[in-house]
Amino acid sequence: MALWGGRFSQAADTRFKQFNDSLRFDYRLAEQDIVGSVGWSRALVQVGILSVDEQQRLEAALQALLAEVQANPQQILSSDAEDIHSWVEGQLIARVGDLGKKLHTGRSRNDQVATDLKLWCKAQGQLLLQSIHHLQQALLAAAKANESVVLPGYTHLQRAQPVTFAHWALAYVEMLERDFSRLQDALARLNLCPLGCGALAGTAYAIDREALALDLGFAGATRNSLDSVSDRDHVIELMNCASLSMVHLSRFAEDLIFFNTGEAGFVELSDKVTSGSSLMPQKKNPDALELIRGKAGRVVGAQTGMLMTLKALPLAYNKDMQEDKEGLFDALDTWYDCLDMAALVLEDIRVNQARTLAAAQGGYANATELADYLVAKGIPFREAHHIVGETVVFAIKVGKPLEALSLVELQQFSPVVADDVYPVLSLESTLGKRVAKGGVAPQQISAALGWMSAHLAKREFN
Ligand code: ARG
Repeated sequence: MALWGGRFSQAADTRFKQFNDSLRFDYRLAEQDIVGSVGWSRALVQVGILSVDEQQRLEAALQALLAEVQANPQQILSSDAEDIHSWVEGQLIARVGDLGKKLHTGRSRNDQVATDLKLWCKAQGQLLLQSIHHLQQALLAAAKANESVVLPGYTHLQRAQPVTFAHWALAYVEMLERDFSRLQDALARLNLCPLGCGALAGTAYAIDREALALDLGFAGATRNSLDSVSDRDHVIELMNCASLSMVHLSRFAEDLIFFNTGEAGFVELSDKVTSGSSLMPQKKNPDALELIRGKAGRVVGAQTGMLMTLKALPLAYNKDMQEDKEGLFDALDTWYDCLDMAALVLEDIRVNQARTLAAAQGGYANATELADYLVAKGIPFREAHHIVGETVVFAIKVGKPLEALSLVELQQFSPVVADDVYPVLSLESTLGKRVAKGGVAPQQISAALGWMSAHLAKREFN
């Protein structure tokens, strides 16, 4: 039975009912709806609507329902209730009779759904914080395992300057660190409880909303009832957290897809996260990474969709807002899965040190070092840049790396070049010079690894 039958003399068209019902997706809010209902029943005691005994009976029935739902959430889907709120209320009435009909006093599905969804976001947010952390740990482990592996660094996908595998991995740890703190910020901002705001104008009972909010685990109660029932900023903010993090993960995926190509051969992905071709027996495709890259589009799309749904929506609640859930659930599920999959990919990754070294040595990645060398000899940088450009053209023509050119060959372009140039052109020197904070010198990498390990070890979850 619908919750709003009294005013209607005709049943809803089955096609409309199917179109309107949200149970098939909002059943995921069952736990939150029950917990919120327990909180509400306590608030109703405070205003004299329920006796202590009645509240206890309601709470016992709700707790029993919660246990059943936790054991088998799918059972809800066999009901034809309109949404999860009707389902919970229907179950309650079936169990405690008329007493169950008192629970909705002073409450609207508008403040109820807003509360349920925030509770769900809080719980899901904690899981996501943990999986971001887990991926950071996996990256850190890969960085430590390959601390001294030299890797070519790229700009414009052209070999630019050598870096190390650890430095590359730590770059993603940093991105995830921002994702982590962004998500924490969003969770802190959404931590105000809308329950007791009624349909839009506030509940007509003198509920102590602050106490209710604390009882439900929120930091406090929202301040404006109109805003409270129509605010979905947190949905957008969480989707934004997901979108930006998925953009990071897509870059991670793309880097590794490239590193894993036959052409680069820097890494080999495990059989556990790759698939074969139905036609070409030699193929081992990086599907896990390609899916991560692809799913970034889906998450950003969901966020854009929600922004458009809310755009120009008049206050307060409108049914448009029911559209918030499928996109949010999908975006956060996808984000969660991709964080997990990225960590799995790293678990068994094999780095081919010989290939990364050869690539880092080729491609004139030490050209900047030669320019800096000339600067140290008193040549202005712009001029030095030009001299090195000409030297590189020559080196390409004779098919040698810079460090293989003879002194005579080098001196054609600048007479200041002497024997002491060769150590400067070595990989050790190129890396070792970059001692400023954030640079790729071995002592900086080891400090960065140490700092990040300690930072992650200190992290606490609620
Ligand atoms: N299923 C609805 C939603 O997700 C619940 C709120 C219904 N409120 C209403 N006034 N019809 O938004």
